[in-house]
Amino acid sequence: MTPASGAQAWIPNRLKAALVALALMAILPLGNAIAQESKLAATPPMGWSAWYGFGCNVTEADVKKSVDTMVSNGMKAAGYEYVNLDDCWQGTRDSEGLIHSNNRFPDMKALGDYIHSRGFKFGIYSSPGPRTCGGFTGSYGYEKQDAGTYASWGVDFLKYDWCSAADVYKPDQIEAAYEKMHEAILATGHPIVYSLCEYGVDAPWIWGPKVGANLWRTTGDVSNLVGFQEFQRMMFVGFSQDGLQSYAGPGHWNDPDFLQIGVRGLDLDAERTQMSLWSLLAAPLISSTDLTRLTQAQLAILTNREVIAVDQDPMSIQGRRISQIGPVQVWVKKLSRGRIAVGFINSGESPLPASVNFRKIGYPHPVKVRDLWEKKDLGIFNGSYSTTIPKHGVVLIEIH
Ligand code: GLA
Repeated sequence: MTPASGAQAWIPNRLKAALVALALMAILPLGNAIAQESKLAATPPMGWSAWYGFGCNVTEADVKKSVDTMVSNGMKAAGYEYVNLDDCWQGTRDSEGLIHSNNRFPDMKALGDYIHSRGFKFGIYSSPGPRTCGGFTGSYGYEKQDAGTYASWGVDFLKYDWCSAADVYKPDQIEAAYEKMHEAILATGHPIVYSLCEYGVDAPWIWGPKVGANLWRTTGDVSNLVGFQEFQRMMFVGFSQDGLQSYAGPGHWNDPDFLQIGVRGLDLDAERTQMSLWSLLAAPLISSTDLTRLTQAQLAILTNREVIAVDQDPMSIQGRRISQIGPVQVWVKKLSRGRIAVGFINSGESPLPASVNFRKIGYPHPVKVRDLWEKKDLGIFNGSYSTTIPKHGVVLIEIH
């Protein structure tokens, strides 16, 4: 081979390599985004949302204060990670179509930086419709632009709430409407946990993963009081998760809505019941209250590491109901290292007895029992375990 022919052969090869590199550079962001997307929400997301504590009056100062409180009250150390704005942060679009926050949120990028600087992740809220449920500007027709804006603010989590989308999409377009924002998020190359909120009307657990959802609301609002007393409404939402077990797993979770601890109207037993049931369900643990007003007892509920460990267990199995006698239900959740959590729940109006037969849940031999609220080993039990549950209360044990 002459030097000339060698050079001729070399130039096309270099050109080829350059072309391949260019092609790779073009597709890598998308490839990266897809790879990162598959790692999101490996366990049920934990965090705080502004909704029930502040509603539409929420301000930047409220959010920053909540961030600081989560650091000082131990919630951050217990695993609460996302700081999520809900509805009502939006202002108007400018002549280019870019969404701006309203005057209660003067600088979203700076707020995101603040949240990140304290070690949290930043969540935001919008709707596939033209208006959010609170009547603020939605993302309809601006999905790409909004996803780009969120990425530029450093957003890590998006709750996408159906609301007025019902006015512009037909019922059979719901999946496509959610896919539109999914594609827009992917195109940013910035990983964003995608939280669907269409109240479980169109069985999102079936198609949610296809449109990139990491969690999806399975019911209406946990605190919608129409026709229900507060506690009974919450139990109705929690109990209705039975049957959805097979749809939960790493990266995709059934979401029965926010934790109500400290919100209103519930006593400590009822609050322990929600924390237990949501953990047995491997549900997202998103507190939604004014954290500065939590009592020590409520904080102890939100930060009970042993109960949180049930929720976050790496086996990622959503628990199921194994019995129901009147107002008493028994739920179990398989855990790693051969353990199982058992929750006895009493939604009745007076204390009631309950028991579990170990053989029936796969433990034919004597087992060790630990009470996760008392944080106490109860000893070795043979055959069964019996207890008394307070009104609206729970007994949560782990056996192995
Ligand atoms: C809907 C959602 C709630 C909350 C409000 C905000 O009702 O289900 O969780 O986001 O909208 O307007």
